[in-house]
Amino acid sequence: KNISVIGVPMDLGQSRRGVDMGPSAMRYAGAIEKLTTLKYIVKDLGDIPINRPVNNESTDGTNLKNLHQVIEANQQLADMVDEEIQKYNFPLILGGDHSIAIGSLAGIAKHYKNLGVIWYDAHGDLNSSETSPSGNIHGMPLAVSLGIGHDKLVNISDYVPKIKPENIVIIGARSLDPGEKELIKEKGIKVFTMHEIDRLGMPNVMSEAIKYLKDRTDGVHLSLDLDGLDPSEAPGVGTPVLGGITYRESHLAMEMLEESGMITSAEFVEVNPILDEKNKTATVAVALMGSLFGEKLN
Ligand code: ARG
Ligand code: MN
Ligand code: MN
Ligand code: MN
Repeated sequence: KNISVIGVPMDLGQSRRGVDMGPSAMRYAGAIEKLTTLKYIVKDLGDIPINRPVNNESTDGTNLKNLHQVIEANQQLADMVDEEIQKYNFPLILGGDHSIAIGSLAGIAKHYKNLGVIWYDAHGDLNSSETSPSGNIHGMPLAVSLGIGHDKLVNISDYVPKIKPENIVIIGARSLDPGEKELIKEKGIKVFTMHEIDRLGMPNVMSEAIKYLKDRTDGVHLSLDLDGLDPSEAPGVGTPVLGGITYRESHLAMEMLEESGMITSAEFVEVNPILDEKNKTATVAVALMGSLFGEKLN
């Protein structure tokens, strides 16, 4: 398996600056070297250019912040990811705020009949313009990929939807907006909240998630938002929520995913070095990449 690393220095999908330095922070924490020592052929394709907005105004008469820039960057990302999959490379995307999952999934999903998605996150990211409390597009990528949201966002790469609700598993949720809860119910999306993780334990949650996706999908994208972890262990994120997944539990989750052999693409997002403590969060992200790609203690 050859890995193609794509950096997306995007911070326009939310309102705290600094998450655009996420790709640098993870490279600085040794992402490329780590994967290389795990015997992968790693190609670092560099960063996608992000155009800064001239003014910070909303566009198209909506509340969606930086809509045009977010669309433009995600279309570029989608094309690049698409191309890498055509070359049979494993796309590993480094964010950037979570709005970039729109482009990742647009580029990936066309190659699968039933792409599964593991959404490892404190949030559901299932908002639309109508339900969003913030207008931040990083709170919307999962909804957009289901075909729900602004026309221009859902139409990136010219097909709608990218994924089906029954092929999604959300893990670590503990901050869901009212509209997101409704959508989860309406669509029957599988969610393991912190409550289930506490009750069942991470080993059972992961076996269930893997079993659930195994027979219904032909590929699985891991979208890992570092705020899924507890802020005590991953403080460098823009929207921290107490009571999250531990570092150890996250390692186990990554190891079980690697053992399952089902992951066909991945992204690590929301690392914000400005809000971090000595690059701790990027270091955690890189350690988790290690487990996801088969690093073993013996
Ligand atoms: N639900 C909130 C919103 O829509 C927070 C979303 C946080 N998303 C994230 N990818 N960190 O604004
Ligand atoms: Mn989140
Ligand atoms: Mn997220
Ligand atoms: Mn371990």
